[in-house]
Amino acid sequence: MELCKISPHWTKTSPSLFHLRRPRLIKEEKRCRIFCVDNNQSLKSEQLIVSITGATGFIGRRLVQRLLADNHVVRVLTRSRSKTKSIFPAKEFPGIIIVEEPEWPKCIEASSAVVNLAGLPISTRWSAEIKKEIKRSRVNTTTKVVDVINCLSPDVQPKVLVSATAVGYYGTSETQVFDEQSPSGNDFLAEVCREWEARAQGVNKDVRLVLIRIGVVLGKDGGALARMIPLFMMFAGGPLGSGKQWFSWIHLDDLVSLIMEALSNQSYKGVINGTAPNPVRLGEMCEQLGRVMGRPSWLPVPDFALKAVLGEGASVVLDGQKVLPKKAQELGFSFDYPYVSDALKDIITSDKKLVQGQVRAP
Ligand SMILES: NC(=O)c1ccc[n+]([C@@H]2O[C@H](COP(=O)([O-])OP(=O)(O)OC[C@H]3O[C@@H](n4cnc5c(N)ncnc54)[C@H](OP(=O)(O)O)[C@@H]3O)[C@@H](O)[C@H]2O)c1
Repeated sequence: MELCKISPHWTKTSPSLFHLRRPRLIKEEKRCRIFCVDNNQSLKSEQLIVSITGATGFIGRRLVQRLLADNHVVRVLTRSRSKTKSIFPAKEFPGIIIVEEPEWPKCIEASSAVVNLAGLPISTRWSAEIKKEIKRSRVNTTTKVVDVINCLSPDVQPKVLVSATAVGYYGTSETQVFDEQSPSGNDFLAEVCREWEARAQGVNKDVRLVLIRIGVVLGKDGGALARMIPLFMMFAGGPLGSGKQWFSWIHLDDLVSLIMEALSNQSYKGVINGTAPNPVRLGEMCEQLGRVMGRPSWLPVPDFALKAVLGEGASVVLDGQKVLPKKAQELGFSFDYPYVSDALKDIITSDKKLVQGQVRAP
């Protein structure tokens, strides 16, 4: 039996944890150590051990739930264990491993997969300081994860790294259509995405790398909708800005399914756009939202109102791009929510708190 370079007594307390449905925790502060690799006992073929950065966020929380429901092992790589413990209370999430930065390497070692979602939220006012942090948080976390992976010997190296990036890579346009082959744009977000992706591409070539260029994620419990709905209500549900901007969205459940598929399907590699196959102009998005919420959509929400709420980060909504998920469709990925009307119906009708403006956007 080979350990993740840890003290041998853990093997006595936990000889074969990979075979438990939910790994039992022994000492919280040493959670990472309870895992060990047994080269003679293969994992249940479908069971993954997944280390996740940004697991406490809007997308990560849902991904963790899905992984656990599918009987995988989850390790949360976070900056704050105490915050994470309140998001994933032990009672509801038994077996989840939570570690802060100094312990990340031990957890990445012998994980079968890593998902990298960390980054400072971009829907904020962009001071020079914040812009620096938007970039730094993504580039540095990705560099750290990649460096750890690259230092590992092949027998304990994760087999796949799924790393987030964004459709902001393409820049913005009201007329162009972008797929994975399209060139990058020349604004701030495009620059961030290029550097973010470049750091992920530094991962050892034996590790399958999937870069998901994520569109605006629509889901319960936060995200863009939690910010848009109060404005929408205030202005009687009109289009945001001119309404002609493209809005390349994806339902949170579809994005999580795409990540799950990327983790386990060897054919998924390289850049994959994480957007629904039917992007809409923002005017249509607002019209559909009004319909689902039973409110008329006729007064435009002015740019200044959006900028007041989102600052320069409003550009994500005010200046969009039409992005198609060409690669995901070629790979045969099936979207549960290809149309925004169905996605909104699902989200709004099942989340009263979101409609009442009680959900805080990240
Ligand atoms: N949601 C979207 O619509 C969307 C669209 C395109 C791309 N993406 C990308 O997908 C990723 C996940 O999105 P999300 O909406 O789930 O994000 P989120 O809710 O804002 O969560 C991101 C996580 O990143 C970590 N984080 C926050 N600030 C950080 C900092 N300064 N330095 C290092 N880590 C920091 C936090 O984890 P800990 O506190 O546990 O460390 C946080 O939970 C992000 O990188 C985002 O840019 C999201």
